[in-house]
Amino acid sequence: MRGDARPGPDSDFDARLSLGDFVVGQSDDPLTPPAGFTEWREAGAWEAELYEPNMLASADARTQIEYDGKVHPVINLCSYNYLGLANHPEIVAAAIEALRKYGVGACGSPTLSGMTDLHRKLERAVAQFLGREDAILFNSGFGGALGTISGLLRKADVAIMDDRSHLSLRDGAVLSRCRIDRFEHNDPESLDEALRRRHGKRRLVIVEGIYSMDGDFASLDQLLTVSEEHGATVMIDEAHSMLACGENGRGAAEQFNAESRIPLIYGTFSKAFGALGGFIAGPQETMDYLRLYAHSYVYSCALPPAVVAAILKGLEIATSEPELRERLWENASYFRAQMNALGIDTGASTTYIMPLIVGDRSRMYRLGHELRRRGLWVAPVDYPAVPEDRICFRACVTANHTRADLDEALNILDDTLVPHLLQKA
Ligand SMILES: Cc1ncc(COP(=O)(O)O)c(C=O)c1O
Repeated sequence: MRGDARPGPDSDFDARLSLGDFVVGQSDDPLTPPAGFTEWREAGAWEAELYEPNMLASADARTQIEYDGKVHPVINLCSYNYLGLANHPEIVAAAIEALRKYGVGACGSPTLSGMTDLHRKLERAVAQFLGREDAILFNSGFGGALGTISGLLRKADVAIMDDRSHLSLRDGAVLSRCRIDRFEHNDPESLDEALRRRHGKRRLVIVEGIYSMDGDFASLDQLLTVSEEHGATVMIDEAHSMLACGENGRGAAEQFNAESRIPLIYGTFSKAFGALGGFIAGPQETMDYLRLYAHSYVYSCALPPAVVAAILKGLEIATSEPELRERLWENASYFRAQMNALGIDTGASTTYIMPLIVGDRSRMYRLGHELRRRGLWVAPVDYPAVPEDRICFRACVTANHTRADLDEALNILDDTLVPHLLQKA
């Protein structure tokens, strides 16, 4: 943060530039960023302050972050703590108990020495919960996607993915060196064309339960029908939908009655589980293979046992307390309807993830600071995470938000964002 009273936007900041302009540089030293990057970062220091804020308490509905050099209370619409499990007292107690018994780290790859009885218990619990033959745990969601896709696909294969796919899925395909094709977001005709174009040896269609920037569901039924017509295998990323969707929390696949049509289910423990890590669940022979060929599994340390204990307790709570999911969905519907009534464009969202579309970089950063000053914590989302015309804030509603939290958030939005949107109209 720059010195004086309260810094404002720097007039040198060029809002026409974005991360997309500094991918490739001319320097022959790989440590030297592309020309203009460092100056652009410096001029954009005020804008960048909205990123990587220091959280000073748990990821609860109300928390504290550091802002303007001070402890700053905020309504938290930023965390993926959808069911409020990250700070659930029973889960914290389970983690502390495991911490006392097992210490901090697993101190080895699961293949060699990092596997504990708790890890095994969680593998079985996840597989049983999802009705799959086996499941593998990864120490990060990103690593799970990377390891699974690169572990399964080879050069002659084809990965066909939605053009809004998460980078972990795309990077997994890039790492596998398979051929990659994309279909237009949620468009079965476009998937059909991609499958007609691409006749790889083996084809994996990759979809997400809920898309993490737009907050919309995959059009599962139609996309599965097309994949089935072409005999392509489907993998679903349930990162944002696992535990929070479906009658029993088994994700979007359960919600849309599609579980038996999807052989490979990938999810993370970093969202509704409120913890960390990822998993893949599916047929025994596939899991047996991946246990040896998913590099992020074999060559990376196992999850800390205390985290595994927390996930186990979280699974128990989330499956025995469906009211958590009900509260989450009630809160999401209320908040979205109220925002729409204020004239805020929430795009295609039908879930607890909602973009608040601003569509202009400078305006988004100015408003971002205003919202933060007023005590509302939403995530700034800039290009290339979303197209330029959909630069937005992203709000995540949780089961722990009270009506009072949401109403206060709406009042702040009404005072700040809404007048700007009216100006634009
Ligand atoms: C759709 C999707 N898949 C995978 C991941 C990676 O998960 P993690 O953050 O647990 O590494 C994310 C993270 O946000 C995600 O949104």
